[in-house]
Amino acid sequence: MDNRETFGSRFAVIMAMAGSAIGLGNIWRFPYIVGQGGGSAFIIVYLISTLVISLPIFLSEAVIGRKTHKGTFGAMQQLAPGTPWRWLGLLTVVSPLIILSYYSVVGGWSVEFLFKALTLGFSTGNEAEITGFFGSFISSPWGPLACHTVFLGICALIVVAGVKKGIETFSTWTMPVLFVLIVFIMIYALTLPGSGAGVDYLLKPDFSKLTASAVASAMGQSFFSLSLGVGTILTYASYVHKDENLLGSGIGTAGFDLLFALIAGFAVMPAVFAAGIEPAAGPGLVFETLPYIFAKMGASTPWLSALVSILFFLTILVAAVSSAISMLEVGVAYLVEEKHFTRGKAVAVLFVGCWLLGALCSLSFGPLAGVKIFGETLFSFCDKLTSNFLMAFGGLLFTIFAGWRMDRADVRDELRAGKAFRVLYFLIRFVAPAAIVLIFLTNLFL
Ligand code: TRP
Repeated sequence: MDNRETFGSRFAVIMAMAGSAIGLGNIWRFPYIVGQGGGSAFIIVYLISTLVISLPIFLSEAVIGRKTHKGTFGAMQQLAPGTPWRWLGLLTVVSPLIILSYYSVVGGWSVEFLFKALTLGFSTGNEAEITGFFGSFISSPWGPLACHTVFLGICALIVVAGVKKGIETFSTWTMPVLFVLIVFIMIYALTLPGSGAGVDYLLKPDFSKLTASAVASAMGQSFFSLSLGVGTILTYASYVHKDENLLGSGIGTAGFDLLFALIAGFAVMPAVFAAGIEPAAGPGLVFETLPYIFAKMGASTPWLSALVSILFFLTILVAAVSSAISMLEVGVAYLVEEKHFTRGKAVAVLFVGCWLLGALCSLSFGPLAGVKIFGETLFSFCDKLTSNFLMAFGGLLFTIFAGWRMDRADVRDELRAGKAFRVLYFLIRFVAPAAIVLIFLTNLFL
């Protein structure tokens, strides 16, 4: 297809892919599991997993996408027509849309928190009220629904503008700014009295904490953080020009993602320890612990607390938007290429679908809390289904596809990795699939 859009430069490719990768996972999960898993000992395992498992999966997706210049479904149709691989194509259209639906709910919370920060709600409130704010906000019906709508609407506007004008422009402008913001917050956090304990928490090697389940969680986190297994990298790679070096883009993206996660760790944990609080994982960390810290700070220096809280929630919001647009693009590529929708119509249809599922997820913190699927609320069901199952399954199948189904020569021509090709191909064929099965079994039994 000659009129298909491509990213304008290597920088744009890496910024868009890093935009997908850098998200809530870097800010609210990475710092916590590093501390839990043995500090720098865990980081070493994380690095090895990234090189040996995540990078090969990334490259498998990238090779398939760039070879075909099609979205997930079209790529499978082109390379393996008339085979059950079409189901992988369909699965990876659906799974990012499920992720988008609940991710948008959390994105909506960050809209609300940014608004509250802008109206000085954290810097002048009292600590007890602010800690309770998150729980009462998410369980109320209307506020979170409105914010979910705003968040998804922002993503829709960016995606409807196109790959180059929308996604590329957004990513190339915001990613560098995001980086500066998080560095600023880190510098601030590191100057707080008592922050050293947070640095220790992240860095002190403790091999006794490095259990089998910590190793599995390092692999899982590296996988999640690079947005693998659901066709986002495949779809973005389908917009990469033939002259670009995919290995370089992969290493650039993984490197930027890791760097951001580490800096986010040094921005968050020192503040948590300086405030004398136990670190938590997940929403509690960014939406309860940190607002509490901002409120405490606000008691002595309201302007600084206001500034840092605004910058912090802006960082979360931008990071979430840049990930969410990559999920939406997968579905848009499918509808435009396979169903011949216009871009506008594709975005509109997906907006409605994801809005509905997201609205149900949002209400599952309040009025629909009693509705359970396999014992989980709808929100956590969607989260667990995708993070624990669909992502790993998709990643496994992409490596098998690139390693065993595609022509070796095609993979080699796309990768253009020179002497490193044999090593990478071995990782794609054997090591990465075996490791995914292993993570899967570990999570199942531990
Ligand atoms: N990598 C994202 C983060 O760290 C989360 C994510 C997981 C994701 N799977 C994805 C983003 C698929 C885009 C597409 O927050």
